Amino acid sequence: MQHLIGLEELSADTLSAYLDKAEVFLDAQGRVCTPPAMRNVLSGSSVVLLFLEPSTRTRVSFELAAHRLGVSSVIYLSSDGTSIKKDESVLDTCRNLEAMGVGAFIVRHRQRELVHLLREALDTPIINAGNGSGEHPTQGLVDALTLRQHFGSLKRLKVSIVGDIVHSRVARSNVFALRTLGAEVTLAGPSRLLPRDDTWGTLRMVGTRREALQDADAVIILRIQGERIEGPPVEIDAYIQEWGIDELVVEQEMTSGAVILHPGPVIRGVELQDTVAEGSRSLILRQAANGVAVRQAVLADFLRG
Ligand code: CP
Repeated sequence: MQHLIGLEELSADTLSAYLDKAEVFLDAQGRVCTPPAMRNVLSGSSVVLLFLEPSTRTRVSFELAAHRLGVSSVIYLSSDGTSIKKDESVLDTCRNLEAMGVGAFIVRHRQRELVHLLREALDTPIINAGNGSGEHPTQGLVDALTLRQHFGSLKRLKVSIVGDIVHSRVARSNVFALRTLGAEVTLAGPSRLLPRDDTWGTLRMVGTRREALQDADAVIILRIQGERIEGPPVEIDAYIQEWGIDELVVEQEMTSGAVILHPGPVIRGVELQDTVAEGSRSLILRQAANGVAVRQAVLADFLRG
């Protein structure tokens, strides 16, 4: 049974193959498209989007991807309006849906363990759409694709990931994918938001914005993930001062060709000022478009068996 739980175990060939397949769903201008031969390729199949944490980009792009490939039933479920609200376990919910013949589960949940439990217990493909601070594999593919489009290759590309790293599933998937594909990754942020455990591998970590930006080809900015922070909240004014990126920072601290990515949601005025989020270096909306293409590639793989 094939599942997509994380990017840590995937080889460079497998990652590149996903990026190649995603490019099939983009035209020469980078707009999402579906080649005529793929339009009904998943007709007759069904997919459940089980989103037990909020989402805009991931949820909508999976829904669009499924519709573009002709999936017959795209079923969105959250805890509201389902029997999970009445304390049915997620596993029991999924067992019942599996018995009804669902073709794949796309799951977002705050607990890291849940997708692993579902993978062990079910015979239906599980696609992880974000498990707490674990992984967000399709976002990792989106970011790798966006960088490959812009630079042509990830080999020896210097990528700094800046912000709340330790609570970020995107950062973890980015680290695994980008390093496997040959990039040199630096992690940067306030010390309490940097990882201390060895599950991230050996990585360069820096404690100032200037060190993070000064030789980076690309900077992936992350928001502070308040919903996962234990203890006192991050002091926002100090954070903006030390880690926020405005036009002056771009001018003074970034190299001339460097680009900015952000998986979203962007908290404007904190990690990025408006003018930077919308500026010429920003690839943020490219990431959003690529989200649909990557998820078309993943669904085509999983639901065609
Ligand atoms: N990047 C991302 O996961 O965004 P959403 O939370 O809006 O899905």
